[in-house]
Amino acid sequence: MKIDYKETTSDLLARIDIHDKFGGRNIDEWMLDLLPMKKGMKILDVACGAGKQCFSFYNELGGDCAITGVDVNAELLAKARQQSKKNEYAIEFDSLDFNKAFDFDDDEFDLISCCFAIYYAEDIPFTISEMLRVIKPGGKLFTTGPMPKNKKVFYDIIREATGKVIPPMPGSSRYGSAILDAVRKTFKKVDLEIFENPLTFMTAEPFLEYTRASLSEDRKLWADFFSGNEGFEDIIKKITDVANRWVKRDGKIVMTKVVGGILATK
Ligand SMILES: C[S@@+](CC[C@H](N)C(=O)[O-])C[C@H]1O[C@@H](n2cnc3c(N)ncnc32)[C@H](O)[C@@H]1O
Repeated sequence: MKIDYKETTSDLLARIDIHDKFGGRNIDEWMLDLLPMKKGMKILDVACGAGKQCFSFYNELGGDCAITGVDVNAELLAKARQQSKKNEYAIEFDSLDFNKAFDFDDDEFDLISCCFAIYYAEDIPFTISEMLRVIKPGGKLFTTGPMPKNKKVFYDIIREATGKVIPPMPGSSRYGSAILDAVRKTFKKVDLEIFENPLTFMTAEPFLEYTRASLSEDRKLWADFFSGNEGFEDIIKKITDVANRWVKRDGKIVMTKVVGGILATK
């Protein structure tokens, strides 16, 4: 399935920043607790974006590791390289399209991570089989993605504002079902771990900032939802009114992120 999606650097960084400021928990700490981190290990972070997970791995291992971050988006890779250089980290960032054969040898990596991205692959079994191929026997694949109850409040507010139900995302709505099944078919041992993180907004503004940084990306995917007489800003205005009403009524908006972590062993 071809999914028309391109992440923008500003939207991705805005969402990461909102999670940092308003989240009750830290997803990278959860990830590091789950993973068998060992000094000297070789890690490939597929769809690394601006390098968030690469930096967490590097810090956890005190730099005693070989990390490669790969992504299809040149702008995000440039941002990752810039941040890496600033921190004097030795991390390699390269271009890779996960819809094509990976330019790595068989059995190269102890760990592959792929956070919030696998569902954009055109042919999930192909991408997962490439991951399997380049992981060492006994090595791990770790992926993350949204579970069905993820950010329910976000959808509730948009539905109340527009009177319309947002269609399921073509990619991420399959994370806990078709994608989990595909990993189970390819890897011998697969566990699913759940991470819940309530984001608490005492005013509507950060929720609206999150909504913009999320909807601008989803807009292309929800073409039908946004087509019609109303423009994007008209819809945002309605969402703003509902969000303000919720804050007035409840004193806050709590949006809980529910993330699945798939941990598979080769
Ligand atoms: C939501 S971002 C997640 C980035 C990063 N893993 C994080 O959690 O901050 C999704 C990433 O998938 C990347 N991506 C989308 N399609 C891709 C493809 N065909 N090959 C490699 N990366 C891709 C995007 O460029 C973007 O960086």
